[in-house]
Amino acid sequence: MIRSVVRGVGSALPRRIMRNADFEGMVETSDAWIVQRTGITQRHIAADDETTASLGEAAARAALDAAGLTAQDIDLIVLATSTPNHTFPATSVEIQERLGMRHGFAFDLQAVCSGFVYAVTTADLYIRGGLAKRVLVIGSETFSRLLDWSDRSTCVLFGDGAGAIVLEAADGEGTLADRGILAASLRSDGTHKQKLYVDGGPSTTQTVGHLRMEGREVFKHAVGMITDVIEATFAAGGITADDLDWFVPHQANKRIIDASARKLGIPEEKVVVTVDLHGNTSAASVPLALSVAVADGRIKRGDLVLLEAMGGGFTWGAVLVRW
Ligand code: ACO
Repeated sequence: MIRSVVRGVGSALPRRIMRNADFEGMVETSDAWIVQRTGITQRHIAADDETTASLGEAAARAALDAAGLTAQDIDLIVLATSTPNHTFPATSVEIQERLGMRHGFAFDLQAVCSGFVYAVTTADLYIRGGLAKRVLVIGSETFSRLLDWSDRSTCVLFGDGAGAIVLEAADGEGTLADRGILAASLRSDGTHKQKLYVDGGPSTTQTVGHLRMEGREVFKHAVGMITDVIEATFAAGGITADDLDWFVPHQANKRIIDASARKLGIPEEKVVVTVDLHGNTSAASVPLALSVAVADGRIKRGDLVLLEAMGGGFTWGAVLVRW
């Protein structure tokens, strides 16, 4: 059977680092509060010349280099983002143009923080359905542009960045030993739409709007939803937590990550954590974390890796991949 195998991973971060202490003169907060409640110590914030398209392009180029490929080898670009450069055309098309790619097709996918997990699952279906052989899957965000910088309960949580992977069609045996995407599970529930949303949009206010969140409510639902969808993915893949080599969760909050891993019985040393350095970069968080763990040698060929995310909507999902 056809499997979608990861050939390369890459990432890009804005030049400017904003540390927790930098908020202390802006809103009533402290480094100690932010670290204790979230695990975040710093995040990268995009300058005017750094956009979702430019960061996405840089991450895509890094992933192509890692794969030993060029944009000419790619059939499809799927960009997960909630912070597009423009309402339309899709930012993926702008990235396609920046990469000098004049063939194939590109589209954006919006599932907020779950965007990358949704995009990987979508790309896998295009590959297995025969519509594409090699797909660039990118998560790129500039959430700093959506923040209300006077709201201490949200502005300290988010950061900007991008990550990308190249997926390629390969033959597999249809067993758990195959490399590539082995199982996935996606969920959404719009009854939670007011708990984490942006209060603007073309069809309502004709403005971009600001991010609004009931943090305590999100927290309350997060661990249960994350563990449910992971258990569904384990069942679909025919594995248990003991079979995993690495757990790469969405990087929103260290307490959510720790509680989810504990509930699933995944030991701390198998959990990739980058929220301390990147903050919550929404759809970019999982590929950024992947890129760190591949670069430092933790994730190696043949490892069984679980990706997970949960975000606005709510949307949530998990993907099991043999590296
Ligand atoms: N600095 C200091 N005090 C703050 C700050 C801040 N930055 N933000 C809020 N507070 C105050 C609140 O005003 C509140 O004060 P009060 O008791 O006088 O009213 C107090 O701290 C406690 O507020 P809570 O909201 O109860 O704090 P909590 O422990 O829940 O932590 C947090 C807040 C970090 C937002 C937490 O609820 C959380 O992580 N929720 C999940 C949200 C999340 O991660 N969202 C990301 C997007 S969704 C996703 O990606 C999964």
